Amino acid sequence: MPRTVVVGVSGGIAAYKTAYLVSALKKQGYDVHVLMTKGALHFVSALTFETLSGNAVLTDTFDRKSEFNVEHVALAKKADMIVVAPATADLIAKAAAGLADDMLTTTLLAARCPVVFAPAMNEAMYHDPATQCNLEVLRRRGAYVMDTGEGYLACGDVGAGRMREPDEILEYMHAVWAELYDMHGVRVLVSAGPTREMIDPVRYISNRSSGKMGYAIAEAAVHAGADVTLVSGPVALPPVDKARMVSVVSAADMAREMTALAPEADIIVMAAAVADYTPKSYEPQKIKKGNGGMTLELVRTVDVLQELSKIKRENQLLMGFAAETQNFEENALTKLRSKNLDVIALNDVSREGEGFDADQNNIRLYFRDGRVQDLGSDDKTVLALRIIDEIKNAYRQLCAR
Ligand SMILES: Cc1cc2nc3c(=O)[nH]c(=O)nc-3n(C[C@H](O)[C@H](O)[C@H](O)COP(=O)(O)O)c2cc1C
Repeated sequence: MPRTVVVGVSGGIAAYKTAYLVSALKKQGYDVHVLMTKGALHFVSALTFETLSGNAVLTDTFDRKSEFNVEHVALAKKADMIVVAPATADLIAKAAAGLADDMLTTTLLAARCPVVFAPAMNEAMYHDPATQCNLEVLRRRGAYVMDTGEGYLACGDVGAGRMREPDEILEYMHAVWAELYDMHGVRVLVSAGPTREMIDPVRYISNRSSGKMGYAIAEAAVHAGADVTLVSGPVALPPVDKARMVSVVSAADMAREMTALAPEADIIVMAAAVADYTPKSYEPQKIKKGNGGMTLELVRTVDVLQELSKIKRENQLLMGFAAETQNFEENALTKLRSKNLDVIALNDVSREGEGFDADQNNIRLYFRDGRVQDLGSDDKTVLALRIIDEIKNAYRQLCAR
């Protein structure tokens, strides 16, 4: 469930109402951080918001007192949602233009979480094409822009431009959360990356998997509100924020961790490229080169997907990947059936620039009930969102049976 809310306050008279919003969020158990523009400080003191939120109020990016000043993206990363209330015409214009000249605008630019704007201004400013155009830009980029209320405005005019009441903003925030975090409470276990099968202390057998597909799926599941555990082979990727990370090296490690974690998972996505073979014996000392050739005896590793299918419990969705270079559909369907999977993602790894060690992939999903969904070729992050969408629906259907 979302935990951290950043409240941005810009310089409008409605800033006083935001004190109530901060207090209400705090009472609902959120960790609230307030960022004020210099303009906002003319209307309400930082002390008010510091007292209500229990956290330091930040304004200036160069303020040496703030713990976030060096790495100003820290707060943007931590935030589950940012709500700007009131959002002045000026703040909206800056956000639309991507300016970053204070703590609030910089955080907005660095954030990847949902952002809600609650505009507040004089009616003429609100209806001005510049403001409407800026609001449209923000909406197109995925921001949630609340409409304004009508009524008596602080400037004496009567009309549109009035900031929505704090309770309405809260209700709106919860509606956005409900829409976005619809995997709340669903436990997703993802495996990613290659495994390394050690020959001696310096040599190993591995494969070209970069882990990008599995990491993208784990991230998409986190964004959908799921509790995510990511079991990863050795990769050169940063950990997925807010996922529980488990590092493994060999196929045996992967099998051990995945089977131990599986009983606690509702959805399992086996995206790792686990080695099928491992050296029969490990040489504890580095093997010295000789003049002739050398034969390495390999034995089969544990089939992780097969093991997971053996312990699969009711209402658990098991998804595998089939990275193929030929007989695509036939191989994918054989794997789907033999491993008792609910869904398999086929990817053709023979295509240049797609699949292994690439940012792009091509995916076709085959479901247990015979349904086929072609997701086409796209960036792995885009495909991951679509995969999560598909398996989320499949999981719901599974539970409804
Ligand atoms: C008394 C007073 C009230 C104001 N109320 C608003 C307002 O409700 N909405 C708005 O967009 N600007 C309002 N302004 C103008 C903004 O404060 C001004 O554009 C400022 O530059 C905004 O800075 P900021 O967006 O960085 O906070 C008001 C100005 C004053 C003096």
